[in-house]
Amino acid sequence: MILQVDNLTKTYASGGRELTVLHAVSFGLQAGDTFAIVGPSGSGKTTLLGLCAGLDRASAGSVHLNGIQLDNLNEDQRAAVRNQHVGFIFQNFQLLPTLTALENVQVPLELRGEKGAAKTAQALLERVGLGQRGHHYPAQLSGGEQQRVSLARAFANRPAILFADEPTGNLDPDTSATVVSLLFELNREAGTTLVLVTHDLELAAKTQRVLKLRGGKVVEDYRSAVVEKY
Ligand SMILES: Nc1ncnc2c1ncn2[C@@H]1O[C@H](COP(=O)(O)OP(=O)(O)OP(=O)(O)O)[C@@H](O)[C@H]1O
Ligand SMILES: [Mg+2]
Repeated sequence: MILQVDNLTKTYASGGRELTVLHAVSFGLQAGDTFAIVGPSGSGKTTLLGLCAGLDRASAGSVHLNGIQLDNLNEDQRAAVRNQHVGFIFQNFQLLPTLTALENVQVPLELRGEKGAAKTAQALLERVGLGQRGHHYPAQLSGGEQQRVSLARAFANRPAILFADEPTGNLDPDTSATVVSLLFELNREAGTTLVLVTHDLELAAKTQRVLKLRGGKVVEDYRSAVVEKY
């Protein structure tokens, strides 16, 4: 299992009250699986993704990522696990505003101590159609372009598992199709496990398995009939 989630629960204390946004969610994924998390706004999708990727800690339950239990690790230890195993495409991109597009992609490579980071980063930007925009800062890029830089940055880690929070949410149909084929190419060629949050049921149907949340609970967990694998 590359990802094993057991009875994961997340409670926030807000305004003196407790708000449980995830209730005992459980599932397991094998390496190379493609998986979609769907559900209405506020149902807990981003929260679940963040817990699975070790960005945040659960209130109860456990997450095992590539055999490592995340729940007992501190922030630095979780950051190390993320850097080693995880790619993450944020719903709001989270590019570093003071770095250019190229530098945003280059940084994770440098953190891993890779040689030729600038060259690899440039090649990744070219793959997402932004080869000419490397010197631009995030504020100088459109939402869809920032999303593609974020995708290139996530790819830079050559992650065992890639979490993508609405990766096509801000893209026009053509760019969206390009991004989707890049994601599935990564799955096919590098065996990267894909975990996507999406409102796009057509995209969800391209994954092998779909988990549907409502009010923080799993209401459906089904295998989709993937006719044509991307
Ligand atoms: N830090 C926080 N403190 C309190 N409540 C929070 C916090 N973060 C998220 N929530 C609440 O948790 C619930 C789930 O949020 P989450 O972002 O996971 O939803 P989502 O399914 O990703 O929604 P969307 O489709 O709109 O992105 C929401 O009701 C949200 O208000
Ligand atoms: Mg969300």
